[in-house]
Amino acid sequence: MRENHLGRPIATVVLAMSADGKISDATRSPTLFGSSADKAHLETQVALADGVLGGAASLRAGGTAMRVSTPELLQQRTVQGKPPQPVQIICSRSGKIPPMLPFFRQNVPRWLLTTNAGAKEWEGQPGWERILVLETAQGDVDLLAAMHQLAKLGLGRLAVLGGGELVAGLLAAGCIDEMWLTVCPLVFGGKEAPTPVDGGGFSLHQAPRLQLQEVKRVEQEVFLHYRVQR
Ligand SMILES: NC(=O)c1ccc[n+]([C@@H]2O[C@H](COP(=O)([O-])OP(=O)(O)OC[C@H]3O[C@@H](n4cnc5c(N)ncnc54)[C@H](OP(=O)(O)O)[C@@H]3O)[C@@H](O)[C@H]2O)c1
Repeated sequence: MRENHLGRPIATVVLAMSADGKISDATRSPTLFGSSADKAHLETQVALADGVLGGAASLRAGGTAMRVSTPELLQQRTVQGKPPQPVQIICSRSGKIPPMLPFFRQNVPRWLLTTNAGAKEWEGQPGWERILVLETAQGDVDLLAAMHQLAKLGLGRLAVLGGGELVAGLLAAGCIDEMWLTVCPLVFGGKEAPTPVDGGGFSLHQAPRLQLQEVKRVEQEVFLHYRVQR
């Protein structure tokens, strides 16, 4: 059991955004717009995690999971006593995730966080090592309860790879500890384009406050590392 004093995993959001704060274009295309330095940064963060958490819409858009493939990072995981790949955890209210996605052919452990209706979608079907059902009265996934469950299942550190709806829910539930945002040199615009934190938003008074830990510039990109203040 890897539970810490929080009773849930330490969770770090890792996202790339345009200079105007969008994580995709207005059509929500899965275009990867970060540089090779950003991809390496993302893989490094994934390699530090026991689990990688993502929203179902991001998976439906992108189709695959971010695996650890760099030999040094695989070696680092071995030294740390971790399995080669973190568990890929997908959060879905509906459970409607096309089984033909390449994700289901990747050599990674897969867990589904869902509702009763979502679990029904997968009844009698392979695809997931575990299906965790944690439902609120409103029919959402109970994200705080889910995080506690993940800690009980031995996950000490999570990388949260978006999208904006899932991150908003986790922030509102007080389940995010750190954020890495890569500011990329392009502008998407568009009021329908997703941002790092969508959902209903926070009032000025309730807005989670961040502490800037680190700023790195690599060529045209800026890597911002924040800690969420408690
Ligand atoms: N630039 C980047 O670094 C980056 C990273 C990731 C994603 N993206 C982009 O972000 C976009 C997707 O973001 P998004 O905000 O639309 O979606 P998202 O957060 O990836 O996924 C939303 C879906 O997740 C499930 N979900 C989220 N919170 C839930 C809760 N509390 N309870 C139950 N289910 C919950 C629901 O799944 P169901 O619909 O299955 O019920 C919901 O429709 C895509 O365009 C993707 O390409 C960009």
